[in-house]
Amino acid sequence: MIPLNRPLLGREEAEAVSSALRTGQIAAGPRVRAFEEAFAAYIGTKYAVATSSGTAALHVALMSAGIGPGDRVITTPFTFAATANAVLFCGATPVFVDIDPSTLNLSPPAVAEAAQDPKVKALIVVHLYGLPCDMEEIVAVVRDRGILLIEDCAQAHGAAYRGRRVGTFGHISTFSFYATKNMTTGEGGMLLTDDAQIAGRARAIINHGAYQKYRHERLGYNYRMTDIAAALGLVQLRKLPGFNRARRRNAAYLSERFQGLRWLEVPPYPADRLPVFHQYTVRVRDRDKFCAHLAARGVGYGIHYPLPLHRQPLYRQLGYGRVSLPESERAAQEVVSLPVHPGLTSRDLETIAEVVASYRDHP
Ligand SMILES: Cc1ncc(COP(=O)(O)O)c(C=O)c1O
Repeated sequence: MIPLNRPLLGREEAEAVSSALRTGQIAAGPRVRAFEEAFAAYIGTKYAVATSSGTAALHVALMSAGIGPGDRVITTPFTFAATANAVLFCGATPVFVDIDPSTLNLSPPAVAEAAQDPKVKALIVVHLYGLPCDMEEIVAVVRDRGILLIEDCAQAHGAAYRGRRVGTFGHISTFSFYATKNMTTGEGGMLLTDDAQIAGRARAIINHGAYQKYRHERLGYNYRMTDIAAALGLVQLRKLPGFNRARRRNAAYLSERFQGLRWLEVPPYPADRLPVFHQYTVRVRDRDKFCAHLAARGVGYGIHYPLPLHRQPLYRQLGYGRVSLPESERAAQEVVSLPVHPGLTSRDLETIAEVVASYRDHP
C-alpha cells in the first residue's frame, strides 16, 4: 500500500533528539527557545510561542486576544474540528460561513456578510490543504469591521500569497507539527504574532497564567512544548523548503497526468499563490466506488473531511443542525486526498497516476 502520509525522519532527527536526551534538559529549555526564534524568522513575525499542539496554539490565540462568552467567531465548517472547538473552549460561539467551491477555503463575500454582526469579534481562516486563502479580500473585511484575524496555518507551513508567507497576515497565526504535517515534532504547535502584548499573554497562558515563576495572574494551562520535540522541529524546519518543493513537484506531476480525466477535478493552483500541498485533494462524484478502486490497487487515500463541522454530532447537539452551507456539504461528499508526501518515489507516483486513470466506473 502506498501510504497517504509518512513522516520523513532521518539520522539528523535521531541525533538531535539523542543530544537533547544526553543534556538531561528534556522539558522546555534552550531548544524550545531556538525553535521559536528560527520558526518566527522563517515565517516572518516578531514573536513565537511554542505549544504542545496546534489545538493548544488556537486556544491560546483566542484567550490571549480576550475572546470569551458572548463573542462570535467566524470560521469555516470545512476544516479539522480543532479550529472551531478552540472557540468553544473559550465559551464563545463559532459562526460557520460557507466556502468558495473553487478553492474550498472560506468565501470572502460570505465572510463580509457575516462580519456585519456586531457580536462578531474574530475570524479564523484556515489555509486548507496548504492553499492560501484570498488574503487581500479577507484582510479588507477585518480592517473594515475592526475584528481580530487569526490564521490557522496547521496545514500551510511555508505557503505564500503574493510572495508573502501565510502566518504574517493575521494578528495571530497558529501552526501544528502533528506527525503528518509538512514538518513535524510528533505533537506540537506554534503561535506567531507581531504584537508584544499578545505574545506575553500567550507565554503566560501556556504556563498556568504565570508571568513570573509561581505567581499566577490568570487561569492558564500546561501547553508547553518539550525540548525533545523542539530538537526535532529545528531539524525538520531546515528540511521544510525541500519537503515543500517535493510536494509541489509531486502535485504537478499528478495534475498533469490527470489532465484528460473529465470526471475528476484536480486541486486549484491560483497564479498569485504558492501552495504547499499538505494534501493533494481531488473531487469526484462517486467517491465510494472510486475509493474502493484505489484501496483494491494499493493506493492509500484519505477523506478531508467527510462531515462539515455544522453537521458533526457535537455541533448538532449545540443547535447547528439547521445550518445549511451547501458548498461545504457538497465538498464533504466529493473530496478524496491522494498521496503527495515527499517520501513518494517516481514509481509510486506512476502507480498512483495509472491506478486513478484506470478507473472506468465514473458517471
Ligand atoms: C486545520 C487544522 N487546525 C488545527 C489542527 C490541530 O492541530 P493539532 O493536531 O496539532 O492539535 C489541525 C491538525 O490536526 C488542522 O489540520
